[in-house]
Amino acid sequence: SPTPQTVTVTGAAGNIGYALLFRIASGQMLGTDTPVRLRLLEIPSAVRAAEGVAMELADSAFPLLASVDVTDDPATAFEGTTHALLVGARPRTAGMERADLLHANGGIFGPQGRAINDHADEAVRVVVVGNPANTNALIASAHAPDVPAERFTALTRLDHNRAVSQLAARAGVGVTDVDGITIWGNHSATQFPDLTHARVRVAGDDGGAPAWRPALDVVDRGWAADEFIPRVAKRGAEIIEVRGSSSAASAASATIDHMRDWSLGTGVDAEGAPRRTSAAVVSDGSYGVPEGLISSFPVTSDGSGAWTIAPGLGPDESLLPGEGGRLAATVAELEAERDAVRGLGLL
Ligand code: NAI
Repeated sequence: SPTPQTVTVTGAAGNIGYALLFRIASGQMLGTDTPVRLRLLEIPSAVRAAEGVAMELADSAFPLLASVDVTDDPATAFEGTTHALLVGARPRTAGMERADLLHANGGIFGPQGRAINDHADEAVRVVVVGNPANTNALIASAHAPDVPAERFTALTRLDHNRAVSQLAARAGVGVTDVDGITIWGNHSATQFPDLTHARVRVAGDDGGAPAWRPALDVVDRGWAADEFIPRVAKRGAEIIEVRGSSSAASAASATIDHMRDWSLGTGVDAEGAPRRTSAAVVSDGSYGVPEGLISSFPVTSDGSGAWTIAPGLGPDESLLPGEGGRLAATVAELEAERDAVRGLGLL
């Protein structure tokens, strides 16, 4: 039977943590035959609340849940960790400058990266959810020189899932009738949700069998440029406005998707072609993204440990009306964030 995995969740007493932990414990992340040991890392003032969550986990009597430990010590939290979900972060508060935000998060993700370096399992997989996610992942990775950079990722799966949902709704099909979307760049308002290689499965004209067609032949390009891209990029703000608090369950669901696909593989579609998704991973220079940046790409996973950046899927921005240069713009923002944290001595 599969060996137990040690899953560390930071910010475990927070909103995303509450939506995440029960799904991990039920087997939705690593499979329904893999026992999990949970480690909950919190700041001292939230340890008691995390202990309350641990009590509820116990009360759920999950067959796969081998243990739950709560701590405020990163070294203890990451001891033997195979899966690190870095959710806790310093939120931006009113009047806070960008440099203050980056500095405060450097104070979290630097030490956590160091603790992962010193204590985690050598096969550790790390996903950073806490914002600014891409740059926090870069900081953590920089403090873990013994861990391959491919092991540090940031979450853009929520953006990807939002894009799938928006395209499916527009085309009047189900979410499984949509594929090939890519989120490029930063998990921020500059991200580029790209339909260049996306497909939609629609009924044949003559009422024949459903067939895959290019998404940009099915939906109009004005919609793709003027509504789809900003809708996906600003969905987080829209959720806050409508729900009254930030997306938590959907963020947790995307985190589960990211870790499950990375660990168990993305698999193949009905035609035997590799299934793709989007994740922010360290750039090898692909698509002109400077090497070393943690940027969102089209990716596949065979489950063995590193995501693979899928080749040959560059955006054709001439297909969309408007400004273009969207990939360049989001990459420029990542470079600016990297330069800022470097200037603060955080890399
Ligand atoms: P929350 O405020 O409800 O919870 C955050 C938790 O992190 C708190 O319990 C806090 O005590 C804890 N925390 C803070 N510093 C910590 C540290 N050094 N070590 C351990 N725990 C620490 O926030 P929520 O809603 O759970 O969101 C968490 C983060 O996820 C935020 O940064 C948010 O912006 C980000 N986010 C990212 C998304 C993505 O797609 N990448 C989507 C949605 C949210």
